[in-house]
Amino acid sequence: MKNRSIKSFVKPYLWLALIAPLCMVGEVLADLKQPNYMNTILKEGVAKGDIDTILAIALRMGITLIIGVACGVLCTVFASMASQRFANDLRVALYSKVMQLSLAETDDFSTGSLVTRITNDINTLQEFMNMLLRMFVRSPLMFLGGVILCIQIDSRYAIIIALALPIQLMIMFLIVRRANPMFKDVQKKLDKVNSVVQEDVSGARVIKAYVKEEYENERFDNANKNLRDTNIRVLNLMSLMGPFMMIIMNIAIIAIIYINRNTLDINVSADIMTAITYITQILMSLNMFGMMFQQVSRALACASRVREVLNCPLSIESSAEKSEDAESGSGASVTFENVCFRYPNTSGNPVLSEISLDIRPGEFVAIVGSTGVGKTSLLNLIPRFYDPFEGKVLLNGRDVRDYDLEDLRNRMGIVLQKSELFAGSIADNIRFGKEDATDEEIRKAAEIAQATEFIDSFLEGFETPVSEKGASLSGGQKQRLSIARALVRKPSVLIMDDATSALDLATEARLLQGIHREMKDTTLIMVAQRIAGIRHADRIAVLENGRISAFAPHDELMKNSQCYREIYDSQLKGGAYLAE
Ligand code: CTP
Ligand code: MG
Repeated sequence: MKNRSIKSFVKPYLWLALIAPLCMVGEVLADLKQPNYMNTILKEGVAKGDIDTILAIALRMGITLIIGVACGVLCTVFASMASQRFANDLRVALYSKVMQLSLAETDDFSTGSLVTRITNDINTLQEFMNMLLRMFVRSPLMFLGGVILCIQIDSRYAIIIALALPIQLMIMFLIVRRANPMFKDVQKKLDKVNSVVQEDVSGARVIKAYVKEEYENERFDNANKNLRDTNIRVLNLMSLMGPFMMIIMNIAIIAIIYINRNTLDINVSADIMTAITYITQILMSLNMFGMMFQQVSRALACASRVREVLNCPLSIESSAEKSEDAESGSGASVTFENVCFRYPNTSGNPVLSEISLDIRPGEFVAIVGSTGVGKTSLLNLIPRFYDPFEGKVLLNGRDVRDYDLEDLRNRMGIVLQKSELFAGSIADNIRFGKEDATDEEIRKAAEIAQATEFIDSFLEGFETPVSEKGASLSGGQKQRLSIARALVRKPSVLIMDDATSALDLATEARLLQGIHREMKDTTLIMVAQRIAGIRHADRIAVLENGRISAFAPHDELMKNSQCYREIYDSQLKGGAYLAE
């Protein structure tokens, strides 16, 4: 995938982005003209008592005002259109990139940070663009126009401006320089708040179980307080600008009056008023510069965070070619050739070393081993959740890295160790495995997964709503739905990671018989803790210290594998389970 710059997202709306500043020019010209009209009213109208002139000029003032307001509104409309559309496109692109990220990268960024980047950071960029199209045009124009027109009234005013500017600029520079790093900090603190919220909301059950509300509240409070304090510090600092500007302005007014102290009549008063208005405009626009700098540094911080995700290289990339061989339904062979694997950014002993397995099409292979030995990691390599750093995994004799990723994963039905369901009906959740599955197919899959019994006991049957993350179902019910979701695709390879742990032995046996009967051709690779369920597997791989220590049918393993026998003994003889 080629890298995209953030600028490229502005391109489609360039014409809007150009019209907006043009409208702003209109608004500024109208604003600059107003003090000039005021001046004329005072000099030509009020001073000479000429009502007609006053009315005529007032009318012109009104028209100019209307033009100015119209230009202003148009500018706002175009700027909003451009910035909103730009932000929308960027958000869509970033979101789809986040969906593409491999597990290694999502682990790395953290969920909270990814959410902040998609929401808050892009919002900031949107606000920045909006401001760029309006204030960034307005301030310099206002500034220049004000200076020129003010000096036109009396060239001596140039001295006042020349004295006031450096002081104001200096103050601004000092404030902005201190504020910049704080803005970067605000963004990071926001990440932290989002991370805590994310974790706590999704882990609400555990928090309640351990009565950790207080502790978690405190953790959130801390994150939140941090964010608040940083925000307040920045805003306090920025708010210093206003009072400073007022002081400078008042001194400037005194200076203007002082210059005119000997000739203070109505003509001069008119000039004074106009000059004060211009000076105010000049200083105000200078102040805006300050705000703009601050926005620039905020936007830059956000842009680099968005870019980081947008152009993050994918550790797992899809090979371009689609393969035509073997439509789903018929089993596929799965081969591990000398595979070594360790999680990205970890060191030490690899999780898996020198794994070689040759699983035939249609075979039922079980994987056993103590907890944490690497069973899940081994399964993760087949759908390319991760890639091995040495050796190869082959599907139907072809390296999984040579498959189109979507095609590869579409050939598999995967039941993860932790069941994840989504909000929707039971049928929706099963249909997740195959979009166009008929009601018939869904029922069939549920039947094999031993789920119909409980589904039919619900009043609404397959239309029963499942709440977020499947919270409204029992652990065993969730597992069976996850299995049905995998079965409905009639995969070539069915991968079950300890997916029957919450089922009783009899249900587990019926499930495996069902799969064996209805999906004879499907290759089944199943991790299990309990030997009772998998003793009839064609072959069983024993994983020890990250290596396969034995790979044979149950009876043979009982004779040859000490590790297997120990597991068996601990479960059957020890009375942990009454065998079958
Ligand atoms: N691991 C890791 N990073 C991950 C996941 C796992 O470093 N993102 C490590 C774990 O600490 C563990 C090893 O990889 O030591 C193997 O983990 P796993 O394959 O999940 O073990 P399983 O055999 O599946 O364990 P269980 O029976 O508990 O599911
Ligand atoms: Mg596991």
